[in-house]
Amino acid sequence: MKPIVILDSGAGGLTVFDEISRMIPWLPVVYCADNAGFPYGPKPEAEVTERVCHLLDVLTQHYNPVLAVIACNTASTVALSALREKLDIPIIGVVPAIKTAATLSRNRCIGLLATPGTANRAYTDNLIQEFANDCQVIRVGSTELVHLAERVFRGEQVDHQNFHDILAPFKKADVAPDHIVLGCTHFPLVRRELSDCMPGVTWVDSGEAIARRVHSLLPDISETHGSALRTVVFTGQTDSLNLFRTAFSGYSFHTQVILSCPLRQ
Ligand code: DGL
Repeated sequence: MKPIVILDSGAGGLTVFDEISRMIPWLPVVYCADNAGFPYGPKPEAEVTERVCHLLDVLTQHYNPVLAVIACNTASTVALSALREKLDIPIIGVVPAIKTAATLSRNRCIGLLATPGTANRAYTDNLIQEFANDCQVIRVGSTELVHLAERVFRGEQVDHQNFHDILAPFKKADVAPDHIVLGCTHFPLVRRELSDCMPGVTWVDSGEAIARRVHSLLPDISETHGSALRTVVFTGQTDSLNLFRTAFSGYSFHTQVILSCPLRQ
């Protein structure tokens, strides 16, 4: 059975992978953590597009996947059309779940917590315009939270005051949002830490919806037993690679590959 490819700048896509593997545990997965390109959030749009298109092209040639999931809001909100033009397989993007939050909000005030790239994109403006027109939307873009999430994922100590500081704009608002969209796939990795700071909030992410979409696009699959093949592909020898490798083993990614392709670091 052909695998699916999941791509992110780091560990964030695992929050999407988790939902997919819960729904389709037997599905073979090639997960690419573009650690050499991390973080995507502050990069110019053209650079993210070029990088992700190149990487997915290389991965498609190597692994011949049935479909690809861009498990990264920062990349999806800018590169989806270029990717769909370039590649023949279905490409599923992950974008902020503004529609869900707006549908569920009771006080008509929602939050968006994302990378600065995603928070300020025209794509996000359009989502808000289309689905949350009658809501007040408070946007917070944070690269620091992406770094914190990676550190928590690798089992490193972090100062919890950082989470309070990042969420301050939501807390200080005249009306605090009752639903906050986790518009970066890294952020569900620190959902508990975020909830501790704002206990009354419902945190909304796109993981489960993406898993349903993957399931619906797979060709006729029959359930197989035994453990599914899981490969993680890293794109560089970074300082924290060893900690990363251990953390990925915890998700049963026992085949670990370092792919060197000519990408800007
Ligand atoms: N996980 C990514 C996202 O969903 C990107 C984080 C980053 O590399 O800045 O936006």
